[in-house]
Amino acid sequence: MTLKILRRKNKAAQPEWKLYEFQPESEKDTVATALTKLNEIIDDPIRWECSCLQKKCGACAMVIDGVPRLACDTFLRDCGPTVRLEPLKKFPVVADLIVDRGVMRENLQTLRLWFEGEARGSEKTDGLAYEASRCLQCGCCLEVCPNYMADGPFTGMAGGVPMARLLAELPQAQCEEAARLYREHVFEGCGKSLACRNVCPAGLDIDGLLVNSNAAAVWKRYFGRG
Ligand code: SF4
Ligand code: SF4
Ligand code: FES
Repeated sequence: MTLKILRRKNKAAQPEWKLYEFQPESEKDTVATALTKLNEIIDDPIRWECSCLQKKCGACAMVIDGVPRLACDTFLRDCGPTVRLEPLKKFPVVADLIVDRGVMRENLQTLRLWFEGEARGSEKTDGLAYEASRCLQCGCCLEVCPNYMADGPFTGMAGGVPMARLLAELPQAQCEEAARLYREHVFEGCGKSLACRNVCPAGLDIDGLLVNSNAAAVWKRYFGRG
């Protein structure tokens, strides 16, 4: 098969498509396998990120055949004879398939995603908190979100999902401020198209998390409904 990779040496360089032949040896070979093995034999290694290779860290997110996905979770047996690899487009490119996702960390800081007191706990909040904690911070949701822009106030679901955990578990004293931040940085920007749900590699229940957060931060708190 052929890997068609959009390469550039650094962020100032012009991107250029390069073709590489690769012969998978196993049904279990993924895009990550191909990149690893190619880098062992080519002179100019392809720069990409990975850590866990188990769909747990989100580092290997890239655009594969036009869809944001994890390289370690994209099996070559499910791809066509040519596989197109590009860096995520909503972030500045560092080199080849590596992007700078620092804006996601800044957004988490804007949302003040930490506890200043003991967390509340119940069967319901535990379930929500667990689901939200599975977010990989990969950025795939931002790639397809029609409303997300790196320089805007809307954090997309990469901020909205962790916020869902906080809204479920925060001690009462911290809830007002968290609800205000959620309204400003998530609720007001989100058009509820749920394109993000369809690409989330963690398969998160984004609808369920949104419903709970909207109820907690908007409908019950702000409009006094429910
Ligand atoms: S919500 Fe899903 S797609 Fe978005 S950052 Fe978290 S794991 Fe990735
Ligand atoms: S529901 Fe739509 S607007 Fe909201 S975060 Fe997901 S893709 Fe973006
Ligand atoms: S390397 Fe960790 S999710 Fe792919």
